[in-house]
Amino acid sequence: MKTKIITIDENNINEELMMQAGDILRQGGLVAFPTETVYGLGGDGLNENSSAKIYEAKGRPSDNPLIVHIADMEALPGIVKEIPEEAYLLAEKYWPGPLTMIFYKSDAVPYATTGGLDTVAVRMPSHKTARALIRAAGGYVAAPSANRSGRPSPTVAKYVIEDLDGRVDMIIDGGEVNIGLESTIIDLTDGQPVILRPGYITEEMLKSVVGQVDMDKTLLDANAKEAPKAPGMKYRHYAPKGSLTVVEGAEGAVTDYINRQIAVAQSEGKKTGVIATDETKGGYVGDVIKSVGSRNDEEAIARQLFRILREFDDSDVQVMFAESFDSPGIGQAIMNRLLKAAGHHVIRV
Ligand code: TXA
Ligand code: MG
Repeated sequence: MKTKIITIDENNINEELMMQAGDILRQGGLVAFPTETVYGLGGDGLNENSSAKIYEAKGRPSDNPLIVHIADMEALPGIVKEIPEEAYLLAEKYWPGPLTMIFYKSDAVPYATTGGLDTVAVRMPSHKTARALIRAAGGYVAAPSANRSGRPSPTVAKYVIEDLDGRVDMIIDGGEVNIGLESTIIDLTDGQPVILRPGYITEEMLKSVVGQVDMDKTLLDANAKEAPKAPGMKYRHYAPKGSLTVVEGAEGAVTDYINRQIAVAQSEGKKTGVIATDETKGGYVGDVIKSVGSRNDEEAIARQLFRILREFDDSDVQVMFAESFDSPGIGQAIMNRLLKAAGHHVIRV
């Protein structure tokens, strides 16, 4: 398949190109597009053949459900059975934006889109190109992150092209995304709202709107016996080719520990790497040292983490260490993605 690659500026949308993209989706084709979180791989969410094509293009297991993207609140009743009160409150505050809510699905949504589940994940993105595309496509765009399964989510079109060129009809280049981590997912189908995937919309932000919110326990605990409720969270994602260990502790102790481990690995002839911060970068002795940004700027760390993981993925580094980024805010989402990349391999010093 020849992939058409176009550029659209969200502040000056080329209507002609947007219509072309919308037509591809209406006809059952696939279009990768920017959102404020990460790039998405879009298909018509109400067309089971389109969803099947998405799984195929990504190389994704078909029990891992897709998020249906809408552009307007009026579109929601068309795909869900009921809308709980919390959903209205959360939508009022955080839609359009990086929040996905899980509802019971209506018959309009094929099981091919929900991975066989009776529930459907719905998000209303704020990115103007994404919103225009959803409208041009007829209102419902199913879109997982636009990476091949198992790779970090793409934050620039270059990585979408790397993963999906030749596998989709069109890729829309909209520059670098704003947030860099996938949306927060909250399940509203089980009484008490539960966070299934942490993201830019934090636990505190959700609690401020709906009171009590639970966190899926499997997310931060490597030894949890149950499977995570968001099927996608059980897969080891973003796994770099080398081994990755997250090191927690006070700044100096972390640097010392990592440097000692690096010396051991180097003495065994292994190439080493460190995911550091602007503040600590100069203190490491490894072969490849990359900073994800300043520790004082969580948003910058969120935006850069997937790019750094991809860069390590493409390198021949065999033994990697990362500092820990735990914090009550976006740090939860950053740590969740980092722990997945590390296969939950954490050391406390
Ligand atoms: O920010 C985002 O959410 C991006 C952009 C493109 O919108 N999309 C995204 O999609 O991250 P994806 O497919 O990579 O991740 C969707 C996650 C998966 O972990 C999946 O298992 C979960 O959402 N999910 C989808 N539908 C679900 C459902 N009905 N119940 C539980 N989890 C669900
Ligand atoms: Mg994904």
